[in-house]
Amino acid sequence: MALPPIVGSYQPLLELASGGMASVYAVRLVGAHGFERIVVMKRVHPHLVNNREFREMFLDEARLSSLIRHPNIVPVIDVAEQSGELFLIMEYVESVSLAQLQRTLHGERIEPRLVSRIVCDVLHGLHAAHETLNLRGQPMNIIHRDVSPQNIVVGVDGTSRLIDFGIAKASSRLTPTTNGVLKGKFGYMAPEQIKQQNLDRRVDIFAAGVVLHEALTGGRLFASGNEADALLGILLREIPDPSSTVPGLPTELDGVVRRALERDRDARFATAGDFAEALEVAFPPASPRDVAALVERVCAEVLGQRRSLLQAAFNHPTLPPPVTPAPPIEVEVDIREEPAPADRAPRRRLIAGISAFAAVSLGVIGVSFLGEHQRPATLPSSEPVPAVSAEPPASSDSASVPPEPSASPPIPAPSTAPRPVSHGKPAPRPPPPRPTSDIHKSNPYLNQGP
Ligand SMILES: Nc1ncnc2c1ncn2[C@@H]1O[C@H](COP(=O)(O)OP(=O)(O)OP(=O)(O)O)[C@@H](O)[C@H]1O
Ligand SMILES: [Mg+2]
Repeated sequence: MALPPIVGSYQPLLELASGGMASVYAVRLVGAHGFERIVVMKRVHPHLVNNREFREMFLDEARLSSLIRHPNIVPVIDVAEQSGELFLIMEYVESVSLAQLQRTLHGERIEPRLVSRIVCDVLHGLHAAHETLNLRGQPMNIIHRDVSPQNIVVGVDGTSRLIDFGIAKASSRLTPTTNGVLKGKFGYMAPEQIKQQNLDRRVDIFAAGVVLHEALTGGRLFASGNEADALLGILLREIPDPSSTVPGLPTELDGVVRRALERDRDARFATAGDFAEALEVAFPPASPRDVAALVERVCAEVLGQRRSLLQAAFNHPTLPPPVTPAPPIEVEVDIREEPAPADRAPRRRLIAGISAFAAVSLGVIGVSFLGEHQRPATLPSSEPVPAVSAEPPASSDSASVPPEPSASPPIPAPSTAPRPVSHGKPAPRPPPPRPTSDIHKSNPYLNQGP
């Protein structure tokens, strides 16, 4: 996809990734007196732009993540609006997602002390999110709800950070969530999330437990075959200890993983802080320097190529075309895990099937995963699939190579340049015409989805 337009002081340079809901770009922030730095711009996919619920959630993401101040959370630093489109501006973290790191390892496992560092970082960030107070000093009760390797970035500085509060929820109620819709990624959902009970921070602890299990064993825990399999695994199947999958793994880690993955949430760690403490004791974390060395070694090619592309774009920006306002169409969407377009119909049938099957299974074996104070186990019978008729986004697992830009994109003249609406920053200063770069023509090294 073509680069977005210049938005206020933000000049897009390079697409970094394209996820389920949005594309993420490295952009140049241009300030006064030659000040410039790279930040990240998140832009909603065009077919979601006019959906009211989605817009509200996008703004919630900005509000929530700007309130959480912690080194393991990537902050949103600005929101821009132009021609009806919203853009989130975040700190740029030179990083790879944990999912990408795991893919690039090709079966090699990450050493437990490095896993311990990465997951402890995430847990510290999560704890800060859970404990966040609003500006009046009241608890926000934020729940991330989508903790997964795609939403963890492991920086070249060796620090891991949680991103993407796109479906996060705060009890102080920001935007109403759609009833009957599963939000999150299937392989990382807690049982109570699948059963659509009231959620609290412990769903994030379960999800972080899955992330820990997978990082230790190097394989998927609940999503080996398909989504039905994942849901059944989460609800019913025995969860193997990491040391039974990988002989030689310290058994101290088993207890930590088991406690995080308790189906009864009362038996889980009560807080992400407790979880981090137990993990640190079970297996002392490596230093960030060691994690940085792992990232640089395993992802050297990806990082090197991205650096050169960014430098090339910085020196010779391909100016984006002038803005064309999006038509005001309302579309109904379900904003949750991104299915591959072709997967949607089978997925709908699959979820209905798994709901029925699991409900029967639960009845027959008389197992209850609910705490005494929760309502009975019912799998979601509503259709947890997107009702999008517009062109769907690419799956986050699929490559996100933007198509070729037009050979010579028009250069916006200063008088017609888009004006920032939301943030009172100085008017855009389009850079002088320069030769266009062909960096987007063939770029296998863009972040391969989150
Ligand atoms: N601030 C950032 N700095 C560097 N890379 C980032 C940043 N934010 C996001 N990314 C990259 O972009 C990817 C997608 O980001 P994000 O999860 O916010 O988008 P998304 O559309 O919500 O994705 P999904 O719906 O698949 O979760 C991340 O996995 C990460 O690789
Ligand atoms: Mg994401």
